[in-house]
Amino acid sequence: MFKNLKASILVLGLMSSVFVQAQTKIELQLNKPGPAIEPTMWGIFFEDINFGADGGLYGELVKNRSFGFDDPMMGWRTSHKDSIRIINEIAEGTQKRFIRLPALKSGKANFIQNDGFRGMGIHEGEEYRLTLDVRLAAGNAQNLKVELLGDDKSCIAESTVKLTDNDWTKVELLLKANATAAKGSLKISLEGDGAVDFKYVSLFPVNTFKNRPNGMRADLAEKLAELHPGFLRFPGGCIVEGHHLDMRYQWKKTVGEVEEREVLINRWNTEFLHRHTPDYYQSFGLGFFEYFQLAEDLGAEALPILNCGMACQYNTGELVPLDEMEPYISDALDLIEFANGDSSTKWGKLRAEMGHPEPFNLKFLGIGNEQWGDQYLERYDVIANKVHEKYPEIKLVSGSGPSSDGDRFEYLWKELKTRNADLVDEHYYKDPDWFFNSAKRYDSYERGGLKVFAGEYASHTRVENQDPTSNNNWLAALSEAAFMTGLERNADVVSMASYAPLFAHVDAWQWRPDLIWFDNLASVATPNYYVQQMYSTHRGDHVLPVLSDGDVMAGQDSLYASASVDHTAQKVYLKVVNSSVEAKSIQVSLKGGKLASKEADLTELFQPDLMAYNTLANPDVVVPQKSKVTLKGNVLSLEMKPQSFVLVELTTK
Ligand code: AHR
Repeated sequence: MFKNLKASILVLGLMSSVFVQAQTKIELQLNKPGPAIEPTMWGIFFEDINFGADGGLYGELVKNRSFGFDDPMMGWRTSHKDSIRIINEIAEGTQKRFIRLPALKSGKANFIQNDGFRGMGIHEGEEYRLTLDVRLAAGNAQNLKVELLGDDKSCIAESTVKLTDNDWTKVELLLKANATAAKGSLKISLEGDGAVDFKYVSLFPVNTFKNRPNGMRADLAEKLAELHPGFLRFPGGCIVEGHHLDMRYQWKKTVGEVEEREVLINRWNTEFLHRHTPDYYQSFGLGFFEYFQLAEDLGAEALPILNCGMACQYNTGELVPLDEMEPYISDALDLIEFANGDSSTKWGKLRAEMGHPEPFNLKFLGIGNEQWGDQYLERYDVIANKVHEKYPEIKLVSGSGPSSDGDRFEYLWKELKTRNADLVDEHYYKDPDWFFNSAKRYDSYERGGLKVFAGEYASHTRVENQDPTSNNNWLAALSEAAFMTGLERNADVVSMASYAPLFAHVDAWQWRPDLIWFDNLASVATPNYYVQQMYSTHRGDHVLPVLSDGDVMAGQDSLYASASVDHTAQKVYLKVVNSSVEAKSIQVSLKGGKLASKEADLTELFQPDLMAYNTLANPDVVVPQKSKVTLKGNVLSLEMKPQSFVLVELTTK
């Protein structure tokens, strides 16, 4: 269809002259509800990639807040580097690092300054909460002058902390900014003599999502909430696997006091040499408790994915011997206890102590990410059998490898059919042609067998453009919209689906395209985001048949369509994609049901330039437009623009 981008762009030039009206007739059968659509159908995939967590969704503004990076002073500046002492304190078997800031002999104030994650985003009029774990190391009472600095390094908020204690002391104070800064900093200066030790320096906006203290960045989490996601998959992605097993994601190290969580290098720090990100670490401030809480706040089912005893097979592929799988089995069983156990259990007690006495009601658990081969199945079996034995109610997600087809994929599918897997995770990062041509992918899948979790997908257009957001162009989004008609129509096979990755910082990304782009102050929804949203906020509870000449609409006449009914809301949702360069006139005959109103709501996503995309500066290039359309009798006439996606909302009796 779009054999290459040049052809697509050529086509654009012709478009204005080819608004030719072609007639297509389709039938929407209102009284023949098909398969149920699970509430989990449209969800979100979260991974700490592209500064998605630290530097992104997790509201912390200080980078390397506990000096735990391999270079303890990475992210920090000081007036005299040599004056700083890095001290590793051994306490109760754990090693904790702190830094000592001494007064300067010159009498000038010594300071430490943190520039955040590519700068700190500070909003005028907003309050920021500073948390310090500090002590007086030498001298008598000391004053710490605390300042937020603006883009021009002038002070935009100021306060003073008086230190008198030689024991570690937690200090909290609020700073109110009198100006906005995109690349702000936090500066802490020692006034007087002596020395001060710092173990932890943290700064959060007071305004966070759901006002949770030291929680999620509000604008980013709001964008997630506006998707009404059915599930939240976390923490990845390849981050689950690690280059080698020492770097795997271990959920037990991400719960308990945030100050105590041990920092780990992020695998996306070194993964792509052309996008090397040396300051990318995981603070785990957004850990498993916070993920569960976020899922709850979003009204989504939590879907954690655990390491299965294998490092990433694209990297070392390191394996845990089968007779040493106990820690991995315990990770799975203990996680279920952490989420669902009552406070008389070890892990349920920890959850209660962390502020959530009620269970999180976990229903799903993924074992492994993009693994393949016997080595995966052997390890999957060991963990899955134990989980099924103890928690038969938990639905397990198993992987099918990194590709949408091929030997590895076929082999895993064949084997998983013989096992007690519940959902098979499929991943596809493909070009727009693949998405258009695969709208019927699931029409031929076996019914009544394993369910599909389309866990990672995105249309990749490979635009050679320096602007990182350009890969999230309208062509990519349109092809996803067409493909998703096939997901919806086959809701009896596909019960979960999520675009990936979710977030990317414009100054610190490793992977593109991504669903939501952001800088330190603002965020922008991509055309792909709006496609996801049009599906997820108009899900319905059952599929309705949409037929053309008795067949499903999956590319004939360049049209794709699916429909659903929401029996509670008494709504019918019809989604139609026109991938043609021609406008289309479509007659939709509504069969076998009555409407409460002849007027229907129409939401249209359209841009004449297939390469158009939204940016932080121009966020409204491709956005949904609302209008009304009136039916004549039982016929809905849809005038579809070339290369457009339309959602029609009908009210039934
Ligand atoms: O979404 C980015 C990466 O793509 C994920 O970490 C991985 O699972 C896949 O290869």
